[in-house]
Amino acid sequence: MAAYSWIDHTFDVVVVGAGGSGLRSALGCAQAGLKTACISKVFPTRSHTVAAQGGISAALGNMGEDDWKWHMFDTVKGSDWLGDQDAIEYLTKNAPAAVYELEHWGVPFSRTEDGKIYQRAFGGMTRNFGEAPVQRTCAAADRTGHAMLHTMYGQSLRHAVDFFIEYIALDLIMENGVCRGVTAWKLDDGSLHRFRAQTVVLATGGYGRAYLSCTSAHTCTGDGGAMVLRAGLPLQDMEFVQFHPTGIFPAGCLITEGARGEGGYLTNSNGERFMERYAPTVKDLAPRDMVARAMTLEIREGRGVGPNKDHINLHLDHLDPKLLHERLPGISESAKVFAGVDVTRAPIPVLPTVHYNMGGIPTNYHGEVLTKVGGDPDSVVPGLMAVGEAACVSVHGANRLGSNSLIDLVVFGRAVGLRCGEKLKANASQPSLVKSAGEDHLARFDKFRNAKGATPTAKLRDKMQRAMQDTCAVYRTGPVLEEGVQRMAKLWVEAPDVRVTDRSMIWNTDLVETLEFDNLLAQSVVTVNGAANRTESRGAHAREDFPDRDDVNWMKHTLAWLDPANGAVKIDYRPVHSNTMTNEVEPIPPKKRVY
Ligand code: FUM
Repeated sequence: MAAYSWIDHTFDVVVVGAGGSGLRSALGCAQAGLKTACISKVFPTRSHTVAAQGGISAALGNMGEDDWKWHMFDTVKGSDWLGDQDAIEYLTKNAPAAVYELEHWGVPFSRTEDGKIYQRAFGGMTRNFGEAPVQRTCAAADRTGHAMLHTMYGQSLRHAVDFFIEYIALDLIMENGVCRGVTAWKLDDGSLHRFRAQTVVLATGGYGRAYLSCTSAHTCTGDGGAMVLRAGLPLQDMEFVQFHPTGIFPAGCLITEGARGEGGYLTNSNGERFMERYAPTVKDLAPRDMVARAMTLEIREGRGVGPNKDHINLHLDHLDPKLLHERLPGISESAKVFAGVDVTRAPIPVLPTVHYNMGGIPTNYHGEVLTKVGGDPDSVVPGLMAVGEAACVSVHGANRLGSNSLIDLVVFGRAVGLRCGEKLKANASQPSLVKSAGEDHLARFDKFRNAKGATPTAKLRDKMQRAMQDTCAVYRTGPVLEEGVQRMAKLWVEAPDVRVTDRSMIWNTDLVETLEFDNLLAQSVVTVNGAANRTESRGAHAREDFPDRDDVNWMKHTLAWLDPANGAVKIDYRPVHSNTMTNEVEPIPPKKRVY
């Protein structure tokens, strides 16, 4: 487009996103001697990983016996058998080394009396294949993500990763099914950039902001997932959206599961510790999908607390104030700021809040993006990788266990670095991009920049968020999901009427929010369509009209393609990898989940 010009760059690898998975991937690629760029729309240490509180899982056995095979069992069971067992083996087996690597880089983990990394209990993490809770989650007080992010940013600088900060990625440059690079808009001077690379790694996080109430930062708009859809590639298992049981009521800010790991418990309006009824063995330390459902049922059946009986109490007031000060200082402050509660004296009002997307860009355990071509469900998209919450490896399946996200970021970030080191040659010559590369990206950019419709972006976004919250929540039914599908289809038609008032190229937040809304809308559409399509209950997808898990018909991953011309969703499937990676472990056969 004549009105715009590109600044061109060439790298071996370009990582989009500078949260935990982006930094770990970039660091690994740079360590492998590859010329590596990392593009981020925020300053790296402001990425959403900074908000991760409770910890990172790894079977270190510092607080009692543990075994990565128990961790693997818990993760497969937690995933409600939708997780790929080869990838879960890779995750849990490599977890201890990944945590020690962080320790050696300088992450200031909390310590035991004898100087080992402190580990706390988390939901669904058990000893000896489900016998009792185990302390497996390594913690830096309740600021683990913050500690990791700062450490990995320092290490990335040390290894000369080239950062492009406050650049918003626009789209993937695809040529004949091969990813050749990515384009971006630099916010502080308005310039436009074309990055050519042997490999692009999408580490762009989740799309929690598709919902009205979530623990995600405002930046969590799933930009990479939307770029993949626009490239004509599928997203996987998008119907599985995790609600964290303890968002502060009504603000939605996170109170870590580590609060229950340190001895906190939930009560209803009768003062009853109701989780004893739902999960007699692990009680408040059941997986998140079960706790969120139990809380929702308690409220529905009239046992919620507060004047409107619309939330639940989380008690920490019985714990030693010294322990709260040492291990849970961050959430003690959040409870004071957002609920006016002194946790040493009163319970925190909490409610399940959107927290994590189990679905995302399909990859194998090397981080290579997959699509289905002909009969091959595991066909690798050359030049494209994805990692972290943006990706669906799939280790979390239908429900992620708490603290399995931070370990996913570093284990698979490291895997990306290893794979790029193995497959790419540093400074290898790359064919020129076709002259028109990125023209269609500019057309989209320009369309929004000059949008003269009648509806402000904020109004459209509010409609989307309310529709998602109303129709695709903890419990779902066919008619309500169908209503969600219709509301999203209507919004798709209304969205071109968007009004952007700022036409400038520099720090145009009106335009940023519009590009982000467009990204969110695409993913909301596939999410609600995927949820309406899956007629069973599994993990976080709880259908009241289909209350049972159906392994005969539904033990398979959903793949969803979106037609950008009309918002139509096409659905197909990939088989779950029920095989392990090595023969060190046997596949874990499906069973009913009881805790
Ligand atoms: O509850 C938490 O601290 C969140 C951890 C996670 O999502 O893994």
